[in-house]
Amino acid sequence: MQLSNDELKIKINELKKKLDVTVVAHFYQRDEVFEMADITGDSLELAMRTQADSSKFILFCGVGFMGQSVKVLSPEKRVVMPKIACCAMARMIDSLYFDDSVKFLNKHGIKSEDILPITYINSNADVKAKVGEMGGMVCTSSNAKVIITKALEEGKKILFVPDRCLGQNIANQMGLKSMIIGQAGDPKECDILCYDGFCSVHQLFTVDDIAFYRKKFPGILIATHPECDPTICDASDFVGSTSQLIKYIADLPVDQKVAVGTEFNLVNRLRQKNTYVLSSTKPECPTMNETTLEDVYVTLKAIEDGEPINEIEVEEKTQKWAKIALERMLAL
Ligand code: 13P
Ligand code: SF4
Repeated sequence: MQLSNDELKIKINELKKKLDVTVVAHFYQRDEVFEMADITGDSLELAMRTQADSSKFILFCGVGFMGQSVKVLSPEKRVVMPKIACCAMARMIDSLYFDDSVKFLNKHGIKSEDILPITYINSNADVKAKVGEMGGMVCTSSNAKVIITKALEEGKKILFVPDRCLGQNIANQMGLKSMIIGQAGDPKECDILCYDGFCSVHQLFTVDDIAFYRKKFPGILIATHPECDPTICDASDFVGSTSQLIKYIADLPVDQKVAVGTEFNLVNRLRQKNTYVLSSTKPECPTMNETTLEDVYVTLKAIEDGEPINEIEVEEKTQKWAKIALERMLAL
């Protein structure tokens, strides 16, 4: 017999009390899953808070690279995911495509020793490991500017993977020259060379959406995530990570209208009045939405039965170098 969400919540809370487990959820999770979490946050906060957590098991409700980052940073922890759902952007690059990007730059006269790679945390451990081995580091949407500022001190060309939008948005903010690898332009003339990856959810927002809201509600503010296209971020009043967006909106006067360009579950959970989704198409992240309350219950039950399911494992060499890339970020 199928249990209702209320019944599942009771059972999940009972198991949480009984087991040495911390439930973690990203803001894009379904409401009913999000409510069960002990730790919530943006990607940077989740990486830091889970690292500091002392439970034996981390039950991570999010996408694959998030659970994997916990395992990479704390290999002694047992990390399970109710659904090992893969972020579509993270899937756009692997270690071979990373090598191809380096070769492309070599072919255009940039030596490997003159390249400093930075990977957005939305990438798998093999890519983070490649970046770590080349002396580079990870960044998230909340610290990308700090990380790139630091990286530029080395006087090298920055290879930014996999999100072309985040790379270009930071370059624009800092007055740096960027280009997308494989597109027209001379890489030697640029500071940041961006891999051609993107988030399909954040591509849904258009300049027409912004024009629509500005016309409909004069004085409305536009707040967007840096995974949106540069044309969107350039036309926004505020650009930030999920946590930064939540804080920005919470601090607005209650009668201030704001249209938000990020995933639907997050926007829908914000103050309902005067807050709008900046798209006529519902911007849901399909992989974040895969995790259900029942999955959370089944995963906890498996821990109770002594046979954990969907446990994250990372091969030793990959773990070592990916950890170095993540720790270089955390040190900043
Ligand atoms: P944040 O780090 O801002 O939470 O972003 C994660 C993400 O996947 C956005 O699409
Ligand atoms: Fe990945 Fe985009 Fe989903 Fe974020 S919203 S997890 S970048 S697919």
